[in-house]
Amino acid sequence: MSTIAKPTVKTYQNYINGQWVASSSGETFPVFDPSTEETIAHVASATAADVDKAVKAARAAFDSGPWAQTTAQDRGRILFKIADKIRQNTAMLAELETRNCGKPIVEAEYDLADVATCFEYYGGLANKVTGHVNPVPANALSFTLREPVGVAAQIIPWNFPLLMAAWKLAPAIAAGCTCVLKPAEQTPLTAMELANWFAEAGLPPGVVNVVNGLGEVTGAALVAHPGVDKVAFTGSAAVGKIIVKSAADTLKRVTLELGGKSPNVFFADADWEAAVDGALFGVFINQGEVCSAGSRVLVEKKIYTKFVEAMTEKAKRIKLGPPLDRDTKMGPLVSKEQYDRVTSYLEIGKKEAKTAIGGGRAKAFGKGYYVEPTIFYDVQNSARIAREEIFGPVASVIPFENEAEAIRISNDTPYGLAAAVWTRDIYKAFRVVKSIRAGIVWVNHMQPTYVEAPWGGYKQSGFGRELGPWGLEEYLETKQVFVNLDEAPIGWY
Ligand code: NAI
Ligand code: MG
Repeated sequence: MSTIAKPTVKTYQNYINGQWVASSSGETFPVFDPSTEETIAHVASATAADVDKAVKAARAAFDSGPWAQTTAQDRGRILFKIADKIRQNTAMLAELETRNCGKPIVEAEYDLADVATCFEYYGGLANKVTGHVNPVPANALSFTLREPVGVAAQIIPWNFPLLMAAWKLAPAIAAGCTCVLKPAEQTPLTAMELANWFAEAGLPPGVVNVVNGLGEVTGAALVAHPGVDKVAFTGSAAVGKIIVKSAADTLKRVTLELGGKSPNVFFADADWEAAVDGALFGVFINQGEVCSAGSRVLVEKKIYTKFVEAMTEKAKRIKLGPPLDRDTKMGPLVSKEQYDRVTSYLEIGKKEAKTAIGGGRAKAFGKGYYVEPTIFYDVQNSARIAREEIFGPVASVIPFENEAEAIRISNDTPYGLAAAVWTRDIYKAFRVVKSIRAGIVWVNHMQPTYVEAPWGGYKQSGFGRELGPWGLEEYLETKQVFVNLDEAPIGWY
């Protein structure tokens, strides 16, 4: 068991226009440690009036503040300063992240390294945004300017709390946008700690605001606000659809990352040890609370029975435990709501398919939202556990006969975020890569994610891309400039 002393229960305000402000309603909501079910903080609930203040602050900072005069180099330096703060405070942030969302501390440390790297990447990219000269057939100069899209509303989930904040904030700041970030109500704490450093890093008041509260209240007010130019959202497909409808009223730009039901495809010729390991890693890392989880494990019939057995044997050794323990490989799910959702799918799965291992609450724990790593097999691709995102440690193993069938089943889903294929045959590997309709395809691995490479989905997994230059692109407008070099009048009339 962890011996780290319990921190005091803090109350966090919202961060608006460079100030920490209480809710206009005076209300707060509790934030929990999912491993103990205890309250670890209280956070001010931002009302529609508070959201309005935050958007107006972001609007003013964008339209008339000093921010518009900052150079791309200045913005890059600010991002590097934020990254430095994160690196200096990694231990504190990783512990807070783990306490708040239940992920193993070692995974939280990896996340924190990625958070800092993301700010550094966009710090470096800020002054590499360039326009284009257009070869128009006129005595003129035609070129493009890249300009920030404006005020960005950024709504993020609870599975990688600070990393999702970084994926949203870093490119927006690099582009010169201003932001109103709404963390998930389950996991706002690390983003609030981050906000402590914004002013010191050089962000003028109003450039980044952080508001907290329920999605249906605070998030909805933010998305509907006419002062917002762009919405960037990561979360459920159901909420993604609500956001697109609401944003349509003022034609906001929208980018969506909505998760999926990603196939992890194993051919008989795959490296055996790597494959079994990759099947488990693909779906059980971060308790399976991963948008790109390889939750459909497709296995060639020739190796199917042996593969399910090997997965099951290895899954028995996954160490569940208090997430602050360094040898824990799986912590609790993030919340009671998520625990209820996942365990309800376990009941469905037990009826729809066969259970190799797991299927319920992890009984060793009196408290906390612990769920056993679960493997269902002989799953039909039409089953609910093969079609609906569960977002927990639940694998649905599906047999396939040949390459064509593997591709057909892989694509038979409304989603298209990610996929992986495991084989030693490069011809087959690349044929499958080309045939799968997904935004990310891994070969002989699953889940590695780097800020240099694009992230986002096809089909109902959303639209737009995060990370790399693609992520910055989503925060930029393109202005066409035409400069007439011909001094004569147009002479039409
Ligand atoms: P959610 O989609 O409701 O929440 C994600 C974010 O959206 C949170 O910040 C929430 O406050 C906000 N939100 C919720 N309703 C909103 C609304 N009407 N307007 C504006 N913002 C709103 O996800 P939830 O309920 O936490 O999880 C449900 C399921 O969603 C999970 O089981 C999983 O399948 C999926 N999910 C997918 C994620 C991904 O990475 N793509 C992340 C989190 C959840
Ligand atoms: Mg929800």
